[in-house]
Amino acid sequence: METKQREQYAESLAAHDAELERVKEGIRRHGMPEISIAPGYGKLLTMLVRMTGASRVLEIGALGGYSGICLARGLADGGTLTSLELKPEYAALAHEHLRQAGLGEKVEYRVGEALDSLEQLGAEGRTFDFFFIDADKGNYPNYLDWALRLGKPGAIVIGDNAFMNGKTLNEEERGNAVTQMRAFNARMTGDPRLEGVLLPAYDGLTIARFR
Ligand code: DHB
Ligand code: MG
Repeated sequence: METKQREQYAESLAAHDAELERVKEGIRRHGMPEISIAPGYGKLLTMLVRMTGASRVLEIGALGGYSGICLARGLADGGTLTSLELKPEYAALAHEHLRQAGLGEKVEYRVGEALDSLEQLGAEGRTFDFFFIDADKGNYPNYLDWALRLGKPGAIVIGDNAFMNGKTLNEEERGNAVTQMRAFNARMTGDPRLEGVLLPAYDGLTIARFR
């Protein structure tokens, strides 16, 4: 049985989701890259936020708000999502999509280089109990370092695109982004400060918990 068939079967069981369809439609209409997180992983994000009771969630890379909606859906009353996005037009569309989903009041966007925003959040003394990393792959280890600084014991960190469309597994690929992704995956599953796992469906998702 091919992987694609397994993913299609799993997706066939999932309920139609008008809010997330609207996000994908908005992304297409604006000519943005159609690289939102896989639907099963979106559902997993909602469930993990809810199951952990996380109330301060940080997302790195908003794109059109697909994962933002999934994360914010899992928040209890009073919970907040802080979303870092390089491009102002992406942040604006993501915010619009979260407003349309009734989640606009739960989210704060910070536009610009994520490393600058992380520095600022640190200076403000902000802490988080859930991190979702889905931005420039070459900085994943740096984002993990920041998560370790801003996260308390028990915090969750998740990284999308562990396989980078197969590049991660191809030894001939030696570029910076893929090299950093290999280092990130290794730390997420092997760093003694973390307990983690790589889920191999879709483009790979790494999940870890701070000890
Ligand atoms: C791609 C997918 C992603 O989810 C991402 O964050 C970056 C790139 C891709 O398929 O190229
Ligand atoms: Mg991604």
